[in-house]
Amino acid sequence: MKDIQFLEVRLLRGPSIWTYPPVLEARVDIDELEDFPSDKIPGYPERLEKMLPTLIEHRCSYGERGGFLRRLDEGTWPCHVLEHVALELMSLAGLPGGFGKTRETSKRGVYKVVISAWQEDVARTALEEARELVLAAMEGRAFDVDATVEKLVDLVDSLCLGPSTSSIIDAANDRGIPHIRLLETGNLVQLGYGAKMRRIWTAETDATSAIAEGISRDKDLAKTLLSACGVPVPEGSLVSSAEEAWKAAQDIGLPVCVKPIDGNHGRGVFIDLHAREEVEKAYSIAVKEGSGVLVERSIPGTEHRLLVIDGKLVAASRGDMVSVTGDGERTIDELIETQINSDPRRGTTEKHPLNRLRLDSATRIELSRQGLAPDSIPETGRKVLIQRNANHEFDVTDEVDPENAAIASLAARVVGLDIAGIDVVVEDISKPLVAQRGAIVEVNAGPGLLMHLKPRVGKPRPVGRAIVDHLFHAGEKGRIPVVGVSGSSGKTRVVRLLAHLLRLSGKHVGLACSDGLFLGERRVEASDSAHWASARRILMAPSVEVALIENGAAAILGEGLAYDRCQVGIVTNILPDDSLGAFDVHDLDQLYTTFRTQVDVVLAEGVSVLNAADPRLVEMSALSDGEVLYFCADADVPALGAHREKGGRCVFLRDGAITLAEGLDERELAPLAETPTPEASENDAETLLAAVAAAWALGLDDDLIRAGIATSED
Ligand SMILES: Nc1ncnc2c1ncn2[C@@H]1O[C@H](COP(=O)(O)OP(=O)(O)O)[C@@H](O)[C@H]1O
Ligand SMILES: [Mg+2]
Repeated sequence: MKDIQFLEVRLLRGPSIWTYPPVLEARVDIDELEDFPSDKIPGYPERLEKMLPTLIEHRCSYGERGGFLRRLDEGTWPCHVLEHVALELMSLAGLPGGFGKTRETSKRGVYKVVISAWQEDVARTALEEARELVLAAMEGRAFDVDATVEKLVDLVDSLCLGPSTSSIIDAANDRGIPHIRLLETGNLVQLGYGAKMRRIWTAETDATSAIAEGISRDKDLAKTLLSACGVPVPEGSLVSSAEEAWKAAQDIGLPVCVKPIDGNHGRGVFIDLHAREEVEKAYSIAVKEGSGVLVERSIPGTEHRLLVIDGKLVAASRGDMVSVTGDGERTIDELIETQINSDPRRGTTEKHPLNRLRLDSATRIELSRQGLAPDSIPETGRKVLIQRNANHEFDVTDEVDPENAAIASLAARVVGLDIAGIDVVVEDISKPLVAQRGAIVEVNAGPGLLMHLKPRVGKPRPVGRAIVDHLFHAGEKGRIPVVGVSGSSGKTRVVRLLAHLLRLSGKHVGLACSDGLFLGERRVEASDSAHWASARRILMAPSVEVALIENGAAAILGEGLAYDRCQVGIVTNILPDDSLGAFDVHDLDQLYTTFRTQVDVVLAEGVSVLNAADPRLVEMSALSDGEVLYFCADADVPALGAHREKGGRCVFLRDGAITLAEGLDERELAPLAETPTPEASENDAETLLAAVAAAWALGLDDDLIRAGIATSED
């Protein structure tokens, strides 16, 4: 049957045999299509290219533009096409630059297709849609590519991290700081691991105080605190009726601004009000948008947003008045759609820097001031003002007068926010505020970052970087020592012994192994915890100072690693294993490819701890970005000699004693006889040596290691 069937689709949530970021791995059966490479199906390559012309950008094995299309013409298999089509659909949906691989399995017509999985549901949907598209192209059926892309765009918008949060994650990545998304949907993210973690919720951090956030939400309270510290704010008062609003307006002096005390996005805010009727109308709307109404002096000038992070001005954006120009034919309503809302930067999701413009009551008042209504048809060329605020377009960071920057920092400090979006109204931000009777009208917690990341005019500002630098000192990576242990046998004993040594050194240890999940001395989970979810729990526990994670072949092949990089990666040995058929892993070479993942993730400043008795592990040592530290029961294994020649470190048995060597120097640590397993088998001796090697790699001193192995119960 000419079909493409998914036998299994699994999410590898971290570093795997394929790559470092998460991927989907699909086992796909193409059955009869094995005999129908693309050049054997008339018209199929042309139809596919017509459906997805952007496939031309795929370089594929030729490493050049058009490379994939060349493979298609020359003849390639449906799974390879599936890989490229799925990646292209994700790229069209806003997730470009994906990773993909297609590999045969031991069964004819069955392949492994691997694609990037920035978000699981998005990737699964892209794969399923790609299958439909490829089959349609083969059979000459129609396929609605646009509908599919739109479906994926909606998924990306609702499930992927927003652009503001992504900019912080990208900056963290650049600094080698790992992250863990804490909510399936939503922007709550952990940066770093364990005791070194910090948390962000887009532009709020674990340093953003709830009190400060509460103050910022109450404009009247915030203004009281600000003016007490000499920060210029519009004089005004709270009112509780339309009459009171007009009375207040007269006391303050016209024009005034009427707004809710706790609104947002400019909803219910009316500025430059000159007449009783306008003030009372504005009151009647503002009262519905919040839990109180403010009447204050309407500040002349343009709105600006100053972003203050950790007391420093990081970016500034100026808003712009929005207007339409009459053409003598269309109503204002229609002109707003064609001249304003047609701007691709306007939309309803996080990725849109500007909101769609609604014909709300503020706009109606604005129009009525010009003697117009939404259904009016302004004559050709007539400019009609639609909105005065909430349209941040221009980056003016370099133009901000230092005095204004200082006032903004003071305002953030007064409210108590580590990250604050300061709304300033002033004619010219490059001149001192006070002289122009400008003022701060609002201090925002968790401010939007997009206007600074993607201004319409001017330089994008690295605000994500500024937030990361605020959370982590220079050089800090938010990393606790993570130790990953892999290999065919002995893993659990190695991690339990190592945990004992580290606890002895006073560290709060998190341990995920097949004997359970341990936080400190406490076993919080008795069942087998040598898998992704338990390891993640360790990394998400703020008390954990060192994370020890057992991850065997099945964990690597079935889930991927739970951490992006580790300080120490141990591979105990590579032994024949016939329990991995489900992953189509049958031989030692495939096991080598599996276990090398543990070495691939060792940090440059880390250590790979490898068994020198296994030639494959000696070969694998070449993959280590970090130092290699060998362990071996037999002191005379050739690889040890060669390694020591180069000044390398090793741990081995000499005359029945555990011996540490660095280059040609060596010292006895302890006689095996003094350890709890004097009659230890070769295997047991190896696991003991591996644990000693890892402890040494983590910087534990001889005395502590000696004391630890003498008292260990493992
Ligand atoms: N007193 C005022 N004078 C002039 N413009 C104002 C005044 N108060 C608010 N605005 C304008 O309205 C916008 C929205 O008001 P703001 O107080 O920031 O409420 P929101 O919480 O809805 O953002 C401001 O960015 C500014 O442009
Ligand atoms: Mg505001």
